[in-house]
Amino acid sequence: MRHFIFAQIFFMHPDLFNQLARSRRSVFPDQFEAGKKIDEAIIREILVNACWAPTHGKTEPWQFTVFSGEGLKKLAAFQSTLYKEKAGKRFREITYGKLQQNPLRASHIIAIGMKRHPATNIPEIEEIGAVACAVQNIYLSVTAYGLGGYWTTGGITYMEEAKSFFGLEEQDKLLGFFYIGHIAIPSTGASRSALEEKVKWINE
Ligand SMILES: Cc1cc2nc3c(=O)[nH]c(=O)nc-3n(C[C@H](O)[C@H](O)[C@H](O)COP(=O)(O)O)c2cc1C
Repeated sequence: MRHFIFAQIFFMHPDLFNQLARSRRSVFPDQFEAGKKIDEAIIREILVNACWAPTHGKTEPWQFTVFSGEGLKKLAAFQSTLYKEKAGKRFREITYGKLQQNPLRASHIIAIGMKRHPATNIPEIEEIGAVACAVQNIYLSVTAYGLGGYWTTGGITYMEEAKSFFGLEEQDKLLGFFYIGHIAIPSTGASRSALEEKVKWINE
């Protein structure tokens, strides 16, 4: 079913948004209150926000698979087993352990997929860009709800064999996982380069 929101003039004091965007931090599984559950209604709101990301040609290329409860155990078993089978020389015992244990510390994990729209001319990079915009909406929403989370592209993310578990086909891409939990230990020590290092102004 399609959802419409009619154009409306929306006002939020910019200081509020500035604060939200700048206080957003990645919060990692060892900082979560292990296993403490988040109301599914909140996760749904976060996903609705994700789906309002910009999308060239309105292809809406995001596809999410949400794991919680027993589903987290399924994901942990799937990703650790596949990693062990396929990592080859890059296998690390510590990574294997994290793939088994970290999901169980989260409340919800969202597998992030880029699903190619049939018969679209939109370049793949733009579809990946649209999904990344959706992930930023997830990051900001999680922050607004006072929750913690992060985007991880480790483990099985780029393994072809992983795709079908998340309903993705050859032409699609798995772009990683967004872990969400209640915060036990907040993130500290964030910094960014000076604006002058990243921005060139051309005024004349
Ligand atoms: C595309 C993408 C992939 C990421 N993958 C990982 C990852 O695999 N492991 C990890 O610890 N953090 C990952 N991160 C989170 C970064 O570590 C984090 O954004 C960075 O440390 C800056 O911290 P901040 O998000 O609190 O500003 C990823 C972030 C992005 C945008």
